Amino acid sequence: MSLPNKAPDKNNMWAEAQAQPNIALIKYWGKRDVEQNLPAAGSLSVTLDSLWTKMSVEFSDALRGDELVVNAASNEKMLPRISACLDRVAGADRPRASIESEGNFPIAAGLASSASAFAALVVAASNAAGKNRDTLPLARIAGAASGSAARSLFGGFVELQVGDTNIEVATIAEAGDWPLTVVIAVTEEGAKPVSSSEAMNRSAASSPFYSSWLEQQPADLKSARDAVLRKDFSQLAAVAEHNCLKMHSVMWGSRPPVVYWNSATLTCMEAVRRLQDDGHAVFFTIDAGPQLKAICLPDEAGLVRSALDACTGVVRTMVSGLGAGARLLDNK
Ligand code: PMV
Repeated sequence: MSLPNKAPDKNNMWAEAQAQPNIALIKYWGKRDVEQNLPAAGSLSVTLDSLWTKMSVEFSDALRGDELVVNAASNEKMLPRISACLDRVAGADRPRASIESEGNFPIAAGLASSASAFAALVVAASNAAGKNRDTLPLARIAGAASGSAARSLFGGFVELQVGDTNIEVATIAEAGDWPLTVVIAVTEEGAKPVSSSEAMNRSAASSPFYSSWLEQQPADLKSARDAVLRKDFSQLAAVAEHNCLKMHSVMWGSRPPVVYWNSATLTCMEAVRRLQDDGHAVFFTIDAGPQLKAICLPDEAGLVRSALDACTGVVRTMVSGLGAGARLLDNK
């Protein structure tokens, strides 16, 4: 994704990477250390395949400041977080950078766009800077910018655990080991009203349910991990839906409350319940936004998509299999 009107300068350090968003089945909600963005508990996700973000980074001594272009438009809002992340990858004394991002799905709408963006960014930046790093250190850097981004460095089913001072992240089952399908019902394309970081801090500070949420995370994580390793769909469905609804209960109990859902989110949830009642292998999860993600066995995907498309308020649906972690596309 080099600029059409500005070919990368061979004397500069340029690289391009791609990452896909991930959808958490056991959620990350709350920080142990706000400064370092260290999650308060572990999480488990699936990395998607057909939604993507491509990021190119070009370091150049000729630039006076960092520049960010997102989907062909200059973007000042995201720049401070991007610059801080580049400092962690390449050092604060790095040359300034021109960063370009392109994606095929809505940004900041609860579709994990920051996860794929920061995962792609750390891979592109480390290669552009000529700093070879293993995936885990890169995941830790991405996680410092956006907790969920650490998981998009890896493909398939990904577990994130929290140690005393750092995170551990790894694929626990490959995408091909258990090829589930994710159907996303977009019910609103605009950006969310409250950022996930702000909402998490509000939950920690004021929700009466926050401490019990954290207490139960290890048990939920174990149940989901066991379900993935045994390919037990109904166990995964039960624990993932319960975990999602608990996370939103924590938010609803915050002051002021955080309610990301709209009426179409609930309509979609009812549609999934009807499919379950008819014996179909599908369950839902919802993140920091009003979109509903239905996870199903591949041969149920057509039916699930039609059911969600038929829900009042659904703007569009997207379907994805499970995919690979962040990777380098090009390097000059
Ligand atoms: O990584 P953040 O700060 O955008 O937070 C992600 C929070 C959820 O998407 C709601 C849950 C998760 O584990 O991805």
